[in-house]
Amino acid sequence: MDKIQSLTGMLDLYDDGNGDNLSVKIFETEKILREIFSNYQLKEMRTPALEETTLFKRSVGDLSDIVNKEIYSFNDKNEKSIALRPEGTAGIIRAIIEKKLDQSTHKLCYLGPMWRYERPQKGRYRQFHQAGVEILGYPEGAPEFEMISIVCKIIEEFRLKNCLIKINHLGNKNNKESFCKALVDYLEPHKDKLDDKDLERLSRNPLRILDSKNQNTQSILENAPSIKDFIEPSSIKILMDIKSQFSDICDIEIDYSLVRGLDYYSGFVFEAVSSDLGAQDSFLGGGRYDYLCSKLGGKDLPSIGMAIGIERFASLLKDITSTNKMASFLVVTSNLEPKAYKIAHQLRSMNKNIRLDLQLSKASLKAKLRRANKSDADYAIIVGDEELKTNTVIFKYLKDESNDQETLSVDELFNIYKSI
Ligand code: HAM
Repeated sequence: MDKIQSLTGMLDLYDDGNGDNLSVKIFETEKILREIFSNYQLKEMRTPALEETTLFKRSVGDLSDIVNKEIYSFNDKNEKSIALRPEGTAGIIRAIIEKKLDQSTHKLCYLGPMWRYERPQKGRYRQFHQAGVEILGYPEGAPEFEMISIVCKIIEEFRLKNCLIKINHLGNKNNKESFCKALVDYLEPHKDKLDDKDLERLSRNPLRILDSKNQNTQSILENAPSIKDFIEPSSIKILMDIKSQFSDICDIEIDYSLVRGLDYYSGFVFEAVSSDLGAQDSFLGGGRYDYLCSKLGGKDLPSIGMAIGIERFASLLKDITSTNKMASFLVVTSNLEPKAYKIAHQLRSMNKNIRLDLQLSKASLKAKLRRANKSDADYAIIVGDEELKTNTVIFKYLKDESNDQETLSVDELFNIYKSI
């Protein structure tokens, strides 16, 4: 029989307790990100993984690589074209409109898998996870500072080194129009040197040419007009203010050539990169998207958001080992003794900072102790027939050189356990 294997670019994540393993880092990252999001009073929103393909065409843009080449879309049994979400913002805005929540403000977060049919390589997967933040209903100003504060907090909290936050401003509709016109005028005489993709961008969405991967195009762009000369002084001021306020916490650079790979952005945009990541160096990106909601049929809802690529982000972390102590609970009675399991249950509610691993097998004491040591437990709590008769337990210090152990009454055990 043919072996059934996972699909290319899709990972199985599994916690094997090894803090150096990417899966463990991913789980820990998600846990800490949830705490940070809650600290910022962000409310969770979960939208479906599948949406109508049109949603992504209209929001992310049908010229973008994400929709043009990378979308996982297919017809359902009713011949409706549906797609696995390549990102989270479009679904959130669709839900906000559908639930008529687009007349009020929201501070939202989400975490979940996304799909893009890309060529897999280090840091690039076909199924990956994003943690995102969307602040809806507020015009430019305070939300920009809050968003960069979240980015800096994340970098600070995980003690990331070698990171750079790049920021830019794409201007208002008029600025964007004038800049695009100047860009097109500049590129017209170079048209014959552009590849088909950049030519299409030139005619349909000139700003995206700045994001071209073609070296030839990039060298032509070296002398192209800069958006800096087209945006309002207030836009430049917001970039300067963000840089000056947060530069003591994180490295921030104003990069006037930063455009993002999704069509919905307007105004302030940003990306965080790390020199430790290699070719796929961006672990987070976002920006303002004031017109997306109305474009999808909702009210005017000025908004800003960002998403972190969890796999890339987690790969930046050094060994994650829990600082919490661990106790291994060994029941070695001749019969099943419910009382022993009740003690384990009580211990768990007495000190939530200790991880209690109740060994479920019927192995011998020796085998169970071996397993306790292997799993890096700090203590072993042993309950045998004799202990149950006398209402005692054996408490063994596994990490002490002396390997001491003592017999404690159950009440003494509870007191020691609470004080660890
Ligand atoms: P994005 O820049 O397309 O933005 O993706 C955000 C992050 O997802 C990237 O910086 C990267 O770390 C990660 N990522 C993207 N593709 C892959 C992949 N194939 N494998 C692994 N990681 C990947 C967005 O998705 C926007 N929705 C962000 C946003 C939210 N803007 C406003 N609100």
